[in-house]
Amino acid sequence: MRNLAWINGSVCNLSEASISLEDRGYLLGDGVYEIIRVYNKTPFYLSAHLERIKRSAREIRLPLPYSPVEIEAVITDLLKQSGCIEGYIYIQLTRGPAPRDHLFPVEPKPSMVFYVREMASPGGADAVKPGKCITLPDERWLNCYIKSTNLLPNVLARQKAAEAGAVEAILYRAGGIVTEATRSNVFAVIGDKVRTHPESKLILSGITRRIALDILEELDVPSAEEAFTIEDLSSASEVFLTSTTMEIKPVCAVDEKPVGNNKTGPVGRSVIKAFWDKIAEHCPKE
Ligand code: PDD
Repeated sequence: MRNLAWINGSVCNLSEASISLEDRGYLLGDGVYEIIRVYNKTPFYLSAHLERIKRSAREIRLPLPYSPVEIEAVITDLLKQSGCIEGYIYIQLTRGPAPRDHLFPVEPKPSMVFYVREMASPGGADAVKPGKCITLPDERWLNCYIKSTNLLPNVLARQKAAEAGAVEAILYRAGGIVTEATRSNVFAVIGDKVRTHPESKLILSGITRRIALDILEELDVPSAEEAFTIEDLSSASEVFLTSTTMEIKPVCAVDEKPVGNNKTGPVGRSVIKAFWDKIAEHCPKE
């Protein structure tokens, strides 16, 4: 496939795409973004992602310059032109180019860019491998529900995790409350219930998180949007992460302490299987 970009109306190769040096997304992180997975040529849960970018944009007082219908048309065209089968679509909306100033420009010219990039899919539930996590204090701002391009605390925590041989850093706030991870939401089986932090300004309300909660309900597995602490986490029989790029990722150890018996547990296995069934349902092979 060809990795292609769409910048304010024109399509080019991703490697040749460019935007102004004075774009406020680049200078100030003044923007929001989305990542949507493509399976079997089809975007997965596209409308939920478009709803979320609309909300993120509204929260930073930056109206979407295109309607959902126009955005869907751009995405359909990009996917077709690129020949993408397995990949992802990245969307970024910024307050556009302007002489550098924290103040909003008087007449903002928002930049909306899309690109599509190849991304191999594990191809099914059986290929999913568990990974280790570390825990770190959550040093981000208090509006994590906005999917903002300001990701420096996430970047630094993710780097620390990688240097410790972990796939993710699970983040906690005062009182040891686990919020989420650097690029995913966190679920833990504590006692006989699966718990994840409730929707609030302290987490990004993940699309995959919602899919996992729906799956748990469909499977009749007791679950609750209920916060838990690092201490609760250390007694969890299973932990898994959810995100567009990591899908449902089982966790086999937290801070080098094995979770359960160091393998994917029964709840994780059934959620992963049901997740792949949803992919097959929403993005069927032709
Ligand atoms: N990350 N929490 C954070 C902080 C995230 O950045 C993400 C997504 C999620 C999961 O959201 P979703 O299930 O809608 O992908 C939770 C994207 C994929 C990223 O920046 O790589």
